[in-house]
Amino acid sequence: MDDWRDRIESLREGALAELAGAGDAEALERWRVAYLGRRGALTETLRGLSSLPAEQRPAAGQAANEAKRALEAALAAHEAGLRARALAENLERERLDVTLPGRPPVRGRLHPTTIVLREITGFFRSLGYQVVEGPEVELDNYNFEMLNIPANHPARDMWDTLYVRPPDVLLRTHTSPMQARVMEAAVAAAREAGTDPPPIRVVVPGRCYRYEAQDATHEWMFYQVEGLAVDEGITMADLKGTLFAFARHLFGSKVKIRFRCDYFPFVEPGVDMSISTPDLRGGAWLEIMGAGMVHPRVLRMAGYDPDRYTGFAFGLGPERVAMPKYGISDIRTFYANDPRFLEQFTS
Ligand code: PHE
Repeated sequence: MDDWRDRIESLREGALAELAGAGDAEALERWRVAYLGRRGALTETLRGLSSLPAEQRPAAGQAANEAKRALEAALAAHEAGLRARALAENLERERLDVTLPGRPPVRGRLHPTTIVLREITGFFRSLGYQVVEGPEVELDNYNFEMLNIPANHPARDMWDTLYVRPPDVLLRTHTSPMQARVMEAAVAAAREAGTDPPPIRVVVPGRCYRYEAQDATHEWMFYQVEGLAVDEGITMADLKGTLFAFARHLFGSKVKIRFRCDYFPFVEPGVDMSISTPDLRGGAWLEIMGAGMVHPRVLRMAGYDPDRYTGFAFGLGPERVAMPKYGISDIRTFYANDPRFLEQFTS
């Protein structure tokens, strides 16, 4: 056997044996440089062939080229094998069981107050009332003065007030300041247009705040829905008819309503309204709102002539409505943000 044949053959065998042990891309690259690179063993061998006698060169060159092709093919095959193995390992490691049931997404729900507010405002809208909202940070002027509750008047004790910047700026203790704001705005617009102040039908849902000891029926933050109707010829009968229709809409046709005299400086006469249904706490009476005929002074202060216009107003507590409706016994649960409570309500 010729010397050059031996050399090529042993080079090829050695290279293939070494390739078998190359376990990663780096080892492969090292191997490629060592054997097939420009300074690699095989290239060196090819170069060395030039010193052979001329008649041996073609055969030797052919053999060396064959060896080269064989090594290149082996490299490609080994590389593909490594890649396939890496892929298989990855797939195994990141195995995903697509038959597992998914995690159910948590679905939001409407808060019971929101549900009830929508029912209340929806009812009044069907009667032609507009829904408006007002500021929670309010001026003493609207929360008290314009409602016929002057400074130092003992009636102020009815509303334990949280002040933002005493003595003028406070958290509204009720939604009634919107009575004055709505009338004032209507009068201003009418003056601009050169017309008489228009009739008013509004309901005002919103948050109120009181500096109050909390218990099962009192919260320092709660909602009210104010209602105001102003027109020529409005009477107490309109108030009763409207509120009775409202109670029937919310609590069904078996509802009974009761008006008792009550005192609020901004109405005259003033009442509170209670409801009773057969399935409501054994027919007990539940007070859900204050109401009354808008006090002439309140009309006048806002720019409505009390000799021409009359009106009624009411302020109702949506939580008070939601509590019997959903069997909620403690008002503090409404705003405690406990999902176990909040999950329970559907409209
Ligand atoms: N604003 C009163 C309260 O918070 C309720 C009320 C509103 C009474 C409108 C009469 C008329 O207690």
